[in-house]
Amino acid sequence: MKAALHVLTIVGARPQIIKAAAFSHAVGGKYRGRIKETLLHTGQHYDANMSRTFFDELGIPPADIMLHAGSGDHGVQTARMIEGIERALQKEHYDVMLLYGDTNSTLAGALAAVKLHVPIAHVEAGLRSFNKSMPEEVNRIVCDHCSTWLFCPTITAVANLEREGFEVDTEMPASRDKPRIVVNGDVMFDNSMRFAALAAERSTLLHELGVAPEGFILATIHRNHNTDDPIRLNAIFSALLDLQQRHALPVVLPLHPRTRKRMHELLAADLHAALQASVHFHLLPPCGFLDMIALERGARLVVTDSGGVQKEAYFFGKPAVVLRPETEWVELVEAGQAVLADADPARITAAAAAFLEHGMPQCPPLFGDGHAAEAIGEVLLEERV
Ligand code: UD1
Ligand code: UDP
Repeated sequence: MKAALHVLTIVGARPQIIKAAAFSHAVGGKYRGRIKETLLHTGQHYDANMSRTFFDELGIPPADIMLHAGSGDHGVQTARMIEGIERALQKEHYDVMLLYGDTNSTLAGALAAVKLHVPIAHVEAGLRSFNKSMPEEVNRIVCDHCSTWLFCPTITAVANLEREGFEVDTEMPASRDKPRIVVNGDVMFDNSMRFAALAAERSTLLHELGVAPEGFILATIHRNHNTDDPIRLNAIFSALLDLQQRHALPVVLPLHPRTRKRMHELLAADLHAALQASVHFHLLPPCGFLDMIALERGARLVVTDSGGVQKEAYFFGKPAVVLRPETEWVELVEAGQAVLADADPARITAAAAAFLEHGMPQCPPLFGDGHAAEAIGEVLLEERV
């Protein structure tokens, strides 16, 4: 009997831990005995409510290898991670490195693995914002170009890769120089479907906040482009305050630690005071995943700059006002579920008013059948050399 395929999965930031749950679940179930997963946590996110909570709630086994890269400038943070990941790769043989998304943890994994000739499977391959001022855009391009398997969530992602010279039909086995493109759906959809019932059973957050289903706006803000620019940050929070008052809807805002810090530093004093004083503004610590699902399902409208929250809004049939000039998830905009409003109060207000008045159109299924993680396992086992 063949030895189990040994996969080293790298996680570090909140959304990666969440994404990793779907594959870890498949490894513990359908692929038990055929795939062995070792989990390396870079320590990019380290507060309990940005990291450990998700292991506990989503039933992910604890990380086998824990680095403590922590926060820092991009170069410093990424370098610490590369060093730790390289050490792990030198200690033990892995058949595949599994990388998620576009964070500095993804970049570090890609650079460490490609130099040591460990084949990379990139989940969420091919996404592009066409805006290289975003650190994530650089990270995802580098990772795609180091990978052997490119797991694309959408057809748009495949087209983006083709434009960069990747070929759709490649001979087997795949390699770094002849990588294989696979459209497998979205592991986040797998998770949202799997945990929705548990969230309904366990989350009491709406009740605790005193907000009614369909009776509040959910907002999340964490992109450095928004949080670290005083003009954009003030514009976004003024728009949220305006929305709250104009539509008499409470706003629930779980705050990323970066955002909380920047609000203190960069918001105009009167705006900050108004937000703090308003009983209709619920400024919360980062939420667990089950509470987050409950908020997304309960919200009347989602206002966000998060990639994951944009999609989850769609999974739960909620319209989204996106606080960015562009998005990697163009299908959502084309389907009319999301509107790009940047950090422009007039556009935010207009998009929100339109959704609140008219609702959103019916959207086609866009992100697979809820078995994206199993498809990854299938391809890796089929192509093992
Ligand atoms: C990172 C990713 C981003 C992703 C986001 C998910 C990069 C370049 N960015 O952004 O793509 O959307 O994670 O949430 O990798 N902090 C804490 N506690 C923590 C973690 C962070 O206080 O547990 C604070 C620190 O002040 C830190 C700041 O948040 O400097 C930013 O953290 P960092 O991981 O560098 O970037 P994110 O904004 O979280
Ligand atoms: N999320 C969460 N609690 C929060 C905010 C987000 O559980 O307070 C989840 C959200 O449901 C989604 C993921 O984190 O699954 C998105 O992560 P984030 O917005 O940090 O990053 P992005 O997706 O933009 O990279």
